[in-house]
Amino acid sequence: MKILAFETSCDETSAAVLHCNNITNKVLSNIISSQLFHSEFGGVVPEIASREHLKNISHITKQALEKANVTLKQIDLVCATSEPGLIGALLVGLNYAKALACAIHKPFVPVNHILSHLFSNMLSGQLEKFPFIGLIVSGGHTLLVHVQSYTDIKILGSTIDDAAGEAFDKVAKILGLGYPGGPVVDKLAKQGDAKYHKFPLAIVKDTEYDFSFSGIKTSVLYYLRKINFNEVKNDKLIADVCASFQFAVVESLYKRAYEACKEYDVKIISVSGGVSANSALKEKFNSLKDKGFEIYFPEIQYSMDNAAMIGLTGYLKYKNSDEKFLFDSESLKTNAKARLDYERFEL
Ligand code: KG4
Ligand code: ZN
Repeated sequence: MKILAFETSCDETSAAVLHCNNITNKVLSNIISSQLFHSEFGGVVPEIASREHLKNISHITKQALEKANVTLKQIDLVCATSEPGLIGALLVGLNYAKALACAIHKPFVPVNHILSHLFSNMLSGQLEKFPFIGLIVSGGHTLLVHVQSYTDIKILGSTIDDAAGEAFDKVAKILGLGYPGGPVVDKLAKQGDAKYHKFPLAIVKDTEYDFSFSGIKTSVLYYLRKINFNEVKNDKLIADVCASFQFAVVESLYKRAYEACKEYDVKIISVSGGVSANSALKEKFNSLKDKGFEIYFPEIQYSMDNAAMIGLTGYLKYKNSDEKFLFDSESLKTNAKARLDYERFEL
């Protein structure tokens, strides 16, 4: 099956073409256009993001088809991110994709963005086995899940306030490092001392697997005020604060994922989402390989927001249409079985 997929939930416009069957999932193209200019506003401006998607989506689609050497007529399935995300931004990709599916008389599958991050480690054919513990860490979400099959996914914990990536972005903003914060904090932390200062992370009482990252941002802010940061700041101090903050976040993510592995007797961990690009996070989880664990991180083009992961998830959803995907926006709240909704357009 040839799949054409779209991702426009935030500030990346992406289109991808995949060739999937029962044996292999091959990405033929994965074009990503990042809207870098949001950095001047210190965060993504939804209205501007939507307009940019609108401007870019047609030529990104053309590029994706050309690079894959596939024509629209050869496409069997069209997918697009339907949730969660910025509504104006989502609507651009979703309606563009639906209109295309309608025009070529092919089915359309709406895809949950977080679920697709979870499956991103399956794109290059590395992760092929179940069960595994999945840690999804992005700018908007932090989730720990136990995955027994494509359709049997149990949410063990999530953030009760800020997402891990959001904490990176906010701390970078406090330090005057711009947006997005994750890559720059990661880079500067390499020159810093992770033991310079202990930034406490809130303990979440209700479930042992939930996360909380808003407190650490406040404790970084208070600490900087206490030391008169603006007067004493220098490159070494900034690097030390980045390293100490990053250490605390990585420890929190690692501890819960490791505990979940013990409880569920699993030795495979898949980390995904934008924050999975973090070098300290990779190092920490990869250290588990000495204990016999299999650790998976996506390639950089699949850790950031991309349409290839949407295409694979849409294909899996379509292929498993007899079963219910246990993971959709409703299930985040109620854990109820989510509806499998795809539309077939017959004109
Ligand atoms: O998954 P993603 O591309 O978009 C969302 O779905 O949110 O994640 C973006 C997030 C941003 O918060 C960004 O700062 C963070 O991923 N990020 C990183 C790194 N690269 C991106 N965080 C820590 N270290 C990195 N190297
Ligand atoms: Zn994402």
